[in-house]
Amino acid sequence: MWLAVASSKEVSARPVGVVRLGKEIVFWRDTTGKLNAVKDLCVHRKARLSAGEVVNGRIQCPFHGFEYDGTGRVKLIPALGRNHQVEERFAIEAYTVTEKAGMIWLWVGENNLQGEPRFFDDIDENFAYAEFKELWRVPYPRAVENQLDVMHLPFIHKTTIGRGNRTLVNGPVVKWIDENEFFFYVFNEIDNGQKVKKPEELNIDLSRVYLEFIFPNTWQNHITNSIRVVAFFVPVDESKTMIYLRFYVRATKIKWLDKLIATTGMPFNKKVLHQDKRVVETQEHDIRRDMLVQGDLPITEFRKRFFKEKNFAEFFYGRSSVTKER
Ligand code: FES
Ligand SMILES: [Fe+2]
Repeated sequence: MWLAVASSKEVSARPVGVVRLGKEIVFWRDTTGKLNAVKDLCVHRKARLSAGEVVNGRIQCPFHGFEYDGTGRVKLIPALGRNHQVEERFAIEAYTVTEKAGMIWLWVGENNLQGEPRFFDDIDENFAYAEFKELWRVPYPRAVENQLDVMHLPFIHKTTIGRGNRTLVNGPVVKWIDENEFFFYVFNEIDNGQKVKKPEELNIDLSRVYLEFIFPNTWQNHITNSIRVVAFFVPVDESKTMIYLRFYVRATKIKWLDKLIATTGMPFNKKVLHQDKRVVETQEHDIRRDMLVQGDLPITEFRKRFFKEKNFAEFFYGRSSVTKER
């Protein structure tokens, strides 16, 4: 699968080192702007390549100047001279990456490359967006599930998006469109003693706000046709997640003005996210002992898909699944 791992604009002329899914990766662009990704570790005496620079499209180790191409091969060992043919064994692991929707995507898994990364078809070039990222001290499933959670709105967000005390959760309705993508709809109400409706008793009204999730880590809140909040939940390691939050706007169709509106709206989105962060970071890391209820349906559905991806799930909940790191 393709996993969104960073924002394209984070990598320009200088190399950038990140940790993603527990791997230390260095990104850089060659002279044509093409993105490369290799392990952030020099074969020679193990300095970090991300502390080096890009020279003629190759990444140069800061220590003794070994130069690597995008396949991870050392092409030059300066001390041996430019006419020296470097042996093949001087190579570091290279990662398969691509770019789409202004994000860098990493291919994860043993299978051969299949297709392109998937983003929302209804968010196109006509949108402008503002973006920020933030590290959460929770494993990736906790970060994802927080944005699939329709029960927390009147509690965590009672002063913002959850105003109105609509604590009663009808449904919610989850609609898979294929094995990697689902929509879900919120039908929360004030509790007047009425019975909660089951998902099958509800009709999907397309005019209401809906949310959409693409496995493994892309989410959108479809607020209106021209306003969306998008998040990417990027696993750093088994206990940390980098959240990239974007506010997409296509209100005036004048790019700079839409961008200004998006930027102006960001503090509110940040505030909402911080309301979540404060509580989500207190959750136990292991999701498998939760006692879920009907209103948790989108979370239940996410878990079915997540645990099917065996190696990925084991990365978070393998051997150390019962420890409670804080
Ligand atoms: S440690 Fe990288 S060139 Fe020596
Ligand atoms: Fe929230």
